[in-house]
Order: sequence, then C-alpha cells, then structure tokens
Amino acid sequence: MKILFFTGKGGVGKSTMAAAAAWQLSRKSRVLIVSLDPAHNLGDIFGVALQDNKSRYANTLFLKEIDLQKLSREYLQREINVLSGTYKYLQTLNLDNYFSVLKYSPGIEEYALLTSIEKIISNETDFDYIIFDTPPTGLTLRFLALPRVTITWIDRLIQIRQKILEKRYTIHRIRGPLSNEETVLNYSEKDDDILKRLRKLNNNYQALNKTLQGENCSIILVFNPDILSLKESQRLIEGLNDLNLPLRLLINNKVTDENIEMAAYIEKNMSKTAKDIPVDRVLLSKTLLGGKDGKLYDIPEDITSNLL
Ligand SMILES: Nc1ncnc2c1ncn2[C@@H]1O[C@H](COP(=O)(O)OP(=O)(O)OP(=O)(O)O)[C@@H](O)[C@H]1O
Ligand SMILES: [Mg+2]
Repeated sequence: MKILFFTGKGGVGKSTMAAAAAWQLSRKSRVLIVSLDPAHNLGDIFGVALQDNKSRYANTLFLKEIDLQKLSREYLQREINVLSGTYKYLQTLNLDNYFSVLKYSPGIEEYALLTSIEKIISNETDFDYIIFDTPPTGLTLRFLALPRVTITWIDRLIQIRQKILEKRYTIHRIRGPLSNEETVLNYSEKDDDILKRLRKLNNNYQALNKTLQGENCSIILVFNPDILSLKESQRLIEGLNDLNLPLRLLINNKVTDENIEMAAYIEKNMSKTAKDIPVDRVLLSKTLLGGKDGKLYDIPEDITSNLL
C-alpha cells in the first residue's frame, strides 16, 4: 500500500491535484482519498456530499472527509477516561477542573488528526493507495512532526516514571509491612499501567514514524508560479528535510502562457532547494473544474506517472 500526502500553501490546488491523482490512479488500483482539511471541498470537487464514513464514488475509488471537531472531542474524551481511571486514587487533585481546561490545550487537533491518520493507515489495508489531502502548510507540518516530537517526550516520561517506581520501592522497603487499611502503591515496572501505556504509545509512534519516513510514503508539494508560493514551499521543504520525511514530487500548478517565464524561474529555484525531485507542470485550465460532470479528471496531464 502506498500513502500520498498532498501539501502546499493555501489555494495552490492541493485538493484538485489530489483528486485528479486519485481519479487517475483508480483506473488501475483501489484508491481511498481522505480530506484532512477542516474546510473540506473534496465533496464539491467530485460533486457529491461526503461524510466521515468513506463512500464509494466509483468501482475502485472511495472518498472520505474527516470531521476534525468530532475527532478532537472523541480524542479528548478517550484521554479523559484514561486519566480519570489512572488517577482515581488521587482525591487531592481536582481532575474535573483540569479536564475543563484541557480542551483548550494546544495540540489537541494535531493529535486527533494524527490518531485518525494512524487508524486509517492500519485499518484500510485493502487499498493500493491512500491519498491524504492536507490543510495548508502550518497545520500539516505540525502534525507530521508530532510522531518525532512525541517519541522524544515519551522517552523522557518513561525515565521519570521509572524513577518514581524506584522511589516507591525504596519507601516500601524502609517502611516495611503495612497495615490492611493502607493502600500500597505499585512499585513494580511490569505491573505499572502508566509505564505500560507509555511503552505502547512509544511503539505506536515509532511505527507511524517509520511508515511516514518509509519507501511507501510520498509527500507531494504543490505550488504556483509566484514568489510567495516559492518562499513558503522552500520553508516546507526545509521542514520536511528536518523531519526526514520523503518529498517525492513537485507540482507546478496553474501555469499559463503569461506566467511561463516565472514558472521556469520558480521551478529552477525549487529544484535548488529540493535536489533531484521531479517537477510536473500542470496548466491552468480554462474550463470550470469540479462537480460530477466537471472537467476535473481531464485537466492535469498525467501527474501520477512519477508516483507509481
Ligand atoms: N490546474 C488548474 N486549473 C484551473 N483551476 C485550478 C487548477 N488547480 C486548481 N484550480 C482552482 O483553484 C482553486 C483552489 O484549488 P484547490 O481547492 O484545489 O486548492 P487547495 O490548495 O486545496 O486550497 P486550500 O488550501 O483552500 O485547501 C479552485 O477553484 C480550483 O478549481
Ligand atoms: Mg484543499
């Protein structure tokens, strides 16, 4: 199974290119295209109403729009359930107070999104391609960076938890046997639920990171022939390099007779930043794109040959 992420600045044509790629690839393969953008327009592009559940558009093409608000609520609720289960013995800590502000915590949306990507990748294994149409650059880089950031944090948390268990063990030895009424806090690593959960999360994020950095994952960067698009794309390429994420294709979209010189200039500069990455050029279509009877699928030339 191959995983494709279409990224780029707002409005450059990520969704259009992702949709066109999905359509082209579905001629020979089973394809699922998923919109991760809170401001969805995948349904409009294909001319159908979409929901959180995947729906069949053609024999081998399925579409899905993620409901980010619902996902974030569910993610938060799962975390609250785990925390209240784990810390129920701590009556001094006002957990409800903590939970009521947790929903404003930065990063919830990114984690919710990442959890959903992970779930889709591990559940939808009978597709040959899963295509993710992403929100504009900022949020995309943040959630793609999350596995790496999280692994670093979890490693540190595991060490802290191990220290806590060591201290508990020392206290237990000094105090000797307890009376029946006293609660004995667990001090053994193999029985500690928190340590188990941290290790499980660590394994999940390591696996996801490996998938994202692996051979079967491709990041496709869409840009337009203009300077702002160039600058933002260059920053995105640097971010992807820092994170070791596989940029595989550049798409210079909306090229016209008027901007063709600028298009060549931008491509030259992009190729300096992203060495050896192929560039596809897609012309600005004069016909209306999108809709069930729209011209979407004929518009971009074969943008998928570089992705097979
Ligand atoms: N090659 C093209 N020819 C003509 N119009 C295009 C082309 N590519 C994209 N468009 C048009 O440009 C607009 C923006 O495209 P699209 O929604 O795909 O961009 P996006 O990068 O996904 O935007 P957002 O950041 O808002 O998600 C749409 O109206 C789309 O029809
Ligand atoms: Mg879009």
